[in-house]
Amino acid sequence: MCGIIGYVGDEAAAPFLVKALKNLEYRGYDSAGIATICNGKVCAEKDVGKLEQVCGTHDLHGLPGNVGIGHVRWATHGDVTQANAHPHFDCKRQIAVVHNGIVENYQDLRTALECNHRFVSQTDTEVIPHLIEEYMDAGASLEQAVLQASKQLKGCYAFAAVSVKEPDKIVATRRESPLVVGSNAHRSFIASDALAFLEETNRVVFLEDGELVVLSKDITFLDNDGKPVKKDFKEVDWKWDQATKQGYDYFMMKEILEEPQAIRRATMQDRKLLLEMAIGILRSKQVVITACGTSRFAALVGRYLFSRLAGKFCDVIMASEFQYFSDSVDRNTLVIAVSQSGETADVIQGVKRAKENGATVYSMVNTVGSSLARMSDSVLYLNCGPEIGVAATKTFVSQLALFYLLSFTMANKLDDGLHDLLAICPKIEENVTKNNKKLQILAQKTRDKNDFYYIARGINFAIALEGALKMKEISYVHAEGMPAGELKHGTLALIERGTPVVVVCPNDYTYEETIANAHETKARGAFVIGLSEETHPIFDDWVVIPDVDEIFQPLVTVVPLQLLAYYSALTRGRDPDKPRNLAKSVTVK
Ligand code: F6R
Repeated sequence: MCGIIGYVGDEAAAPFLVKALKNLEYRGYDSAGIATICNGKVCAEKDVGKLEQVCGTHDLHGLPGNVGIGHVRWATHGDVTQANAHPHFDCKRQIAVVHNGIVENYQDLRTALECNHRFVSQTDTEVIPHLIEEYMDAGASLEQAVLQASKQLKGCYAFAAVSVKEPDKIVATRRESPLVVGSNAHRSFIASDALAFLEETNRVVFLEDGELVVLSKDITFLDNDGKPVKKDFKEVDWKWDQATKQGYDYFMMKEILEEPQAIRRATMQDRKLLLEMAIGILRSKQVVITACGTSRFAALVGRYLFSRLAGKFCDVIMASEFQYFSDSVDRNTLVIAVSQSGETADVIQGVKRAKENGATVYSMVNTVGSSLARMSDSVLYLNCGPEIGVAATKTFVSQLALFYLLSFTMANKLDDGLHDLLAICPKIEENVTKNNKKLQILAQKTRDKNDFYYIARGINFAIALEGALKMKEISYVHAEGMPAGELKHGTLALIERGTPVVVVCPNDYTYEETIANAHETKARGAFVIGLSEETHPIFDDWVVIPDVDEIFQPLVTVVPLQLLAYYSALTRGRDPDKPRNLAKSVTVK
């Protein structure tokens, strides 16, 4: 959803900006650009394409000056064109702006500005430099102009501005889009994510909605009335090299292989906090889990765990739909929001509404200091380090691990549960080794298939959904997951000779019924891929899974499906880390 970066320091800005943008590319990769201030001029380069391509055709590294801003784009308003790439400028090209978010009222602002200002892009962003220009022409300083401009904007944004009139500084502000400031003795940064500059410093400050930061030799924070506020730097414990590929071809593979370690790290929680949260859940009249995409599938597994281990029923609502249920949310409601990024706009919006209605909010988040973490009453962190591949993999198993911890605590069985959970990790490791070659061959075998179906029952139903989501998002193949029992209520009509049907059927109390559903597809010609501990005559292909207790099955069934999607993407010539049209942190609604 776009990444922004700003740098002020002793050395040339451009190399730092390019390096930081590389770390932000997971947020958007359809175009890139930077602008620096030097000798009374804005120097800028921008174009469409991934950062590497843009660096290949434009001398981004060579832009002069010690102050600069940069951007990687995930298009919302306007096509993917050079004119729409950031930075954007005012009429005199004295001001440059990079922006993440959506200015909802840009059309009205643009119409009002158009009598005096010349627009060259189709973006919502371009109104910002022109607004700043208006205020600076009327005598405002850069920070006053940014403050006044931001008061005109509706929607969500984080933006950073530079001006030749005040060449030593960057002014940045945010509302509902992330912005973090980092600093060491020689250089200061602002960015959408601390990962951007983690190689330089891990001392950070997160900006609150409406706050401004003025980055120059000193760093000043202002509130939304322009009054100075004191904010303390704190250290984040992520290491920058966790965000490098460390020899792997793709982040996604590295992150799948990190899953056992991710589970172990997720178990490192404060027991007192777990107990408080478990009691909170048990005592709540109504518990609603809200999340999007893969995080929602983790929540669906969590719902089974709450019910099976602790007899606590709860609902799971897609975050983008949650706000429409706000009539039923009140002070007796406990909302559990699950989001690896902690910045997903739909989740934030739903949680805000729920809080307005008096609900208590717990969250499960990976990114320390993210918006969701800061607005929650209690937070459990995934602790699995940065996930860079756009497809969520290790964060999914970490979220599952947190649901296990909460459920075991609710059932007063945390020690036994922890022991059993940790015993799953080596089984995942062995299983990856066992299946790796087989899944590559399977991806080859099915490379001409463009419709996949995934079925399962019970606790694995959400894994069927997740397997299908992974396949479609990185391979661009149509894939649907559903409870096996639902097939015959419509989808069966789509099964033809050779249609791959992935049947997740561990040998538990759902086995016989799921196999019966697999038979129904086979009778229509399906190519049945079975995931089970043992093979079965109905399987055309068999992916072995380790024999584990029923409640832990999602941890072992999901990994082969992630690998199948990964190899299918490679077989079809796709980049699994940067699937088309998607970005990792979905900060727009
Ligand atoms: C799929 C994927 C997305 C995210 C979804 C929610 O692989 O990554 O479906 O799960 O956008 O993101 P978070 O968890 O950051 O709220």
